[in-house]
Parts: sequence; structure tokens; C-alpha cells
Amino acid sequence: MNNFLATSDFDCSQLETLIQRAIEIKSRKDIGKPLKSKSIALVFFNPSLRTRASMHVGIYELGGNPVILEPGSTSWTLEHREGVVMDDDKTEHLKEFVRVLERYVSAIGVRTFAELKDWETERADPILNAFARYATVPIINLESAMHHPCQAMADMMTIHEKLGNGKKKVLLTWAWHPKPLPMAVPNSFALAAAQFGHDLRIAYPKGYELDEELAEAIVSQASTNGGSLDFTNDIDAAFEDVEVVYAKSWGGKNFYGNYEADILARSQYRASWIVNESKMERTNDAIFMHCLPVRRNVIVSDGVIDSPRSVVIDEAENRLHIQKAIMTELIK
Ligand code: CP
Repeated sequence: MNNFLATSDFDCSQLETLIQRAIEIKSRKDIGKPLKSKSIALVFFNPSLRTRASMHVGIYELGGNPVILEPGSTSWTLEHREGVVMDDDKTEHLKEFVRVLERYVSAIGVRTFAELKDWETERADPILNAFARYATVPIINLESAMHHPCQAMADMMTIHEKLGNGKKKVLLTWAWHPKPLPMAVPNSFALAAAQFGHDLRIAYPKGYELDEELAEAIVSQASTNGGSLDFTNDIDAAFEDVEVVYAKSWGGKNFYGNYEADILARSQYRASWIVNESKMERTNDAIFMHCLPVRRNVIVSDGVIDSPRSVVIDEAENRLHIQKAIMTELIK
């Protein structure tokens, strides 16, 4: 392992090993201080609770020192494009930022969301990939435009922990939200669920399809790893018989650069695309999952998120354990 950018960079057995390691760490097995005397930079272009706190605590508990940087806020604004004339608002280029930073630290974690302005550009994850291109130390993706692999690994760990080993019937469902959101979480969840061989159903209204190339990768992973995949636009039927309900809202890729059109298009789904008690009754006693933060009574009803079938807090806790497992594997 050199970088941790997307789960698809690893095979299923490598991912399973990480989960076993995270389960051991969670059970308080002493793993010593593998990051002793090492500093790890955490670069946040965007806000965070879980990722920031769990990485900070995880590095500390592994004996290391977290260095938090916020470009454009507590550190300089950053340019990532090659060959640009930097006469606008960007103060420093990523080439210098990364090359300087890695003289101080042993790895760099990066959070850089999609701006939802230009799909063709953003689907290539230009900022994350610039970090990976310029760095010689490991880069850990803490959520980019297209992937949130640490979240997806915590999700897979949580399914394993709650429902045991082996394939499960898993629903990833779009939900209405007042604003278009990035697609990294659904992309990574779907990819990881396929890599772990789950029977995956993805429900979304027409116009909110995943990236075509990514969807092909999910299909291929499902086939390779003994799982299955189906897509549906029927929000009620989608819940039938599933064991896991994973809710997430995302913006339509065809609306990137046209925020108002997405708001208008999604308005018709407000009442119907919410996870509530009546939909959960159609499942096979499913657990409810969400990466958080979540808008109550918008994405999910109070009755579902407060029910015993909701595992969102354990899911968030597992971020800490899986990231410790990833860091101990990556940072030598
Ligand atoms: N799920 C997640 O990544 O949460 P934060 O945005 O709070 O880090």
C-alpha cells in the first residue's frame, strides 16, 4: 500500500485484512505506538466533524502527532493546476505545498470535496490526484470529489459487525435534501459493497444516476466477488427484503454547474424519497446506516434514526478503528 485513495485500488482480501485489523484494534488489543515520533498532516479544504476528530484522535492514540492545515483559512490558498499564471486569488502551488510538507510529515490526509461546478473536470479528482502526483509520502483520501474510502471501509466493518460475515442484501438509496451534495459517499459505498460481494440495490430518481464508468466498475466488482447489482427508480419496492438500508443524498451529475436546476428537479421528490418507518417495515429487519451529518426528518425520520435498528453512531465510531488500521498498514 502506497496511498489510500479508493477501495478499488485494493483487492477484497486486502480490504478484509484491514477490517480484521480494525476489529482487533476496537477490541482494545494492544498494538503499541506504530506512529511514535511521526507527524501526519491532515489537510482540510472543507468542514468535518467525524473525519477530523477520528483522524486526530487515531494519530494521537497510535503515538503520532497530527498537523491540521486548512488551505484558504489557517494556511495559504492553493493552486493545483499545472502551468497556470497565478495572478488571481491563489497564493501557493500544491507542488511547493506538498514538497515542503513532506519534509516534516510521514503521510498526508486530504479532504477536498467536489464543487459541483464542472462534472468532467471534477470526476477526475484533480486536487487529490495532484497531491498523489507530487508526494513521495503516503496520501490518505479523507473524502475527495469522487471517493470517501475511509467512510466506506467503516461502513463495511459496521455491516460485518452487526450482521456477521458473508453477503447481505444491501440497499443504497438516494434521499431528498434541499441542496445538491457530492457523490463521494454513495460512489465509495457502492464500490466497496460490490468488492465485499454483497447483493447491492441502488435506488435513485431518474436524473441521479452514478457516473457511468464507476457504475461499470461496480458491476465488474459485483461479478468478480460473487455479489449482484440492480438499479431501481422505485423507492418503495427498493426496500423489499433488504437487510441494510444506507441512505445518502447526492447531486445529479448532469446538474453540475446548474445548482438551481437541480433544486427544481429534486423538489418533486421531497415527500417520497425519505427513509421512514413504513419503508423500513418492508425490509428484512434492516439496520439503518448513514455516514452523517444527516438532516433529521429530511433524509430519515426521527422514528428510524432513533430506533434500535439505527447503527449510525457505531458506524461513526468505526471510522476511528478502520483509519487506525489503514494508517498502521500505510505508514512504516
Ligand atoms: N462522514 C463524514 O465524513 O463526516 P464528516 O464530514 O463530519 O467528517
